[in-house]
Formats: sequence, C-alpha cells, structure tokens
Amino acid sequence: MGRFNDVVDTVVDPSVRSFSLARRDADSSETRLQGRIEIMKLAFQFSHTTPRLFGGMSLMLEPGQHLAIVGGSGSGKTTLLRILCGLLQSTEGSILYDGRHWMSWDDPSLRRSLSLISQDVFLFKASLFENLTLWDPRFSQAQAVSALKHTGLLEELGGAASLQHQLLEGGRNLSGGQRQRVEIARALLRDPSLLLMDEATSALDERRERQVVAAVKSSPRSLITVAHRLHSAQVSDLVLVLDRGEPVEVGHPRELAEQTNGYYQRLLMAEATTTA
Ligand SMILES: Nc1ncnc2c1ncn2[C@@H]1O[C@H](COP(=O)(O)OP(=O)(O)O)[C@@H](O)[C@H]1O
Ligand SMILES: [Mg+2]
Repeated sequence: MGRFNDVVDTVVDPSVRSFSLARRDADSSETRLQGRIEIMKLAFQFSHTTPRLFGGMSLMLEPGQHLAIVGGSGSGKTTLLRILCGLLQSTEGSILYDGRHWMSWDDPSLRRSLSLISQDVFLFKASLFENLTLWDPRFSQAQAVSALKHTGLLEELGGAASLQHQLLEGGRNLSGGQRQRVEIARALLRDPSLLLMDEATSALDERRERQVVAAVKSSPRSLITVAHRLHSAQVSDLVLVLDRGEPVEVGHPRELAEQTNGYYQRLLMAEATTTA
C-alpha cells in the first residue's frame, strides 16, 4: 500500500497532474475531451545546458486520429509524450486540447480524458481487479473483464475468476508481457479520449502486439503511440519521425514509405532486414 499512497500523494500535487492513477473526484460537472490536439511552435529544453528539442514544431491531431512517433533512442519520444500529458511543461510554444490551453480546463476533466501508459509498469500487491480499478468504485467486474478480454489476458489467466488473483509487489508473478497488458487493460477500463502509449507493447510478441493495437484502436479515441516495431506506425494516420530531438518527417505512413531514402523508408527497410 505504501507505493500506492506515494502515487496518490504525487497526483494530488497540482504541478504534477497525472491521469491514469487519478483519484476519484465526485465532480459530476466534468466534461470529457473530444481528443483534438494542436501543437503550436513547440520546443523544450531540460535546462539551459541541454539541447533544444522539437525545433518549434507544429502538428494537428483530430479527434479519433492516431499519431505514431518513431525515432531512435534518445530522439525525444518519451519527452514529447510527457509534455502532451502535462507531466512536463514546454519551454516554447503551446498545446491546445480541444482548442483550449491546459490551464483553462478544470484539471479532473483532463485527467479523466487522458491516459498515459508509460514504459514503467506500476503493479501493486493486491488482486488483479484492484490493480485494474486502482480502488476506484466506479468500475464494475464486468468492465474489468471486458478490458482484460481486449488484451487477450482474460483467456490466458483463466477467465473472470482471475480478477481475484493476488499479484505480488510489482506483478512479479506475471510475465513481462502480462504485466504490460494489465497496464493496458487498466487504461482501456478508463476509456480515455486520448490514449498515449510509450513502448507499451515492447515485451509482447508480434501477434500479441497486433492484437493489442487493434483493441486500443477499436473504440473511437485519439491515440499517440511510441513503439519499437513499426506495425503501429503503419496502421496510424500520421507518423512523426524524430531524429536527435528534431522533427525530420511528418506524414501519412504510406506517403512517407514512398519517399526515396527518407527517414521512415530507411526505418522500414532496417526493420525488414532484422526480421527477415
Ligand atoms: N530529465 C532529463 N534531464 C536532462 N536530459 C534528459 C532528461 N530526460 C531525458 N533527457 C534527454 O533528452 C533526450 C530525449 O530523451 P527521451 O525523450 O527519453 O528519448 P526517447 O524516448 O526517444 O528515447 C535524450 O538526449 C535524453 O538523454
Ligand atoms: Mg523513451
């Protein structure tokens, strides 16, 4: 429980603004984001001595669209996701959510509308059901079962009875791929209008990854993914290629795949070579 309280305490800090682990707020006047994201002249620096990232880029994501961010290690993918979900503040430019700045939204509405599935999975010494709902009584067993089903975990863990399965601290009694899918099911349960996934399927084999990507795309929501494999980029509406912090290509995956010697085309060729 210690770790859960740590997380809850962090969420209460208004400077942090986290979502997936948001506390229950009784405010019924909350509105829900449609999922339009407008990035305007965005740049970010961790400090004066570190490079300026994202070069003042602008980008528009319509509700229900899927943006895939690709690029090598250290290219700024995680940093961009953290800015988009309010965990870091941009140093230049702005981001509009349904046409409004973050600060003009009431915080619970945004927190309820956005979920980030990060590279680090947080699982608690508690039942699988509690790990999915995070003790939020709004969620029913039937909803939890449905979320598990979408990730392929329901069958794998033995049906609805698995909700009472006790997880060890950090989910040590699950495989890496199962732990990632609990995290994905936890986000699906909240049905966010903007879902951000940072290497959230890295421990899954290709078949499972495709199943999970299809599941998160099956409900209308805006989606931003960062993935090691290019499958999720291939099925996206818009690909952003980052190279050492610079946005070097933006476009539809088919269009980018045809750009001779382009960054995306080279990434596709490199992936084909390693999986051949
Ligand atoms: N807290 C931090 N302070 C300073 N630099 C950081 C910090 N976090 C990441 N960086 C640097 O920012 C760049 C982008 O990192 P990151 O967004 O994690 O890349 P990616 O997710 O594409 O691997 C890297 O050069 C990384 O070393
Ligand atoms: Mg990263």
